[in-house]
Amino acid sequence: MGEDLCKILITEDEISSRLDELAAAIDRDYEGKEILVLGILKGAVMVMADLARKMHTPLTMDWMAVSSYGSGTKSSGVVRILKDLETDLEGKHVLIVEDIIDSGLTLSWLKANLESRGPASVEIATLLRKPDATTVDIHVEYVGFDIPNEFVVGYGLDYAEKYRNLPFVGTLAPHVYGG
Ligand code: XMP
Ligand code: MG
Repeated sequence: MGEDLCKILITEDEISSRLDELAAAIDRDYEGKEILVLGILKGAVMVMADLARKMHTPLTMDWMAVSSYGSGTKSSGVVRILKDLETDLEGKHVLIVEDIIDSGLTLSWLKANLESRGPASVEIATLLRKPDATTVDIHVEYVGFDIPNEFVVGYGLDYAEKYRNLPFVGTLAPHVYGG
């Protein structure tokens, strides 16, 4: 499977060390509080599982699935909830966990949607962030890695639903796209 990939962008060890740092920062910031960690399906499954295991703050987990309408690979900011959370957010400290922020439109919609449900706070943690994200006015408190504007797979991220189980983040070789 590794031969399909152009190159490993972020190794398993690099991901693990960076998640150690993010978990420590989150534990510091939320001291004395409890967190509702909200994973966005399906891409955030790996980062959610690993990050949560490195955190010591008391937490509960919930999941949402959203789909962003868009042309091709660009998201439009028009979002549909495929699976809503099962938790009442009133008074909760919500930490959204995402795999990747590209334009930021999906998260900006999602954050506003969650904030309308009366939580105590809503923050965002993402493993990866692409350069376009800086053009949308959305505050992301915890960022694992800023990466170039390339399509990446692995560690939860897919191409046509494949490669999610790779333990690292890599860029796809053009021949995988049929090029
Ligand atoms: P926006 O643009 O709203 O979209 O921030 C974020 C969503 O787009 C998907 N996405 C990717 N998925 N490799 C992927 O597997 C990528 O390089 C990539 N870039 C964006 C992803 O679903 C994310 O939640
Ligand atoms: Mg995807």
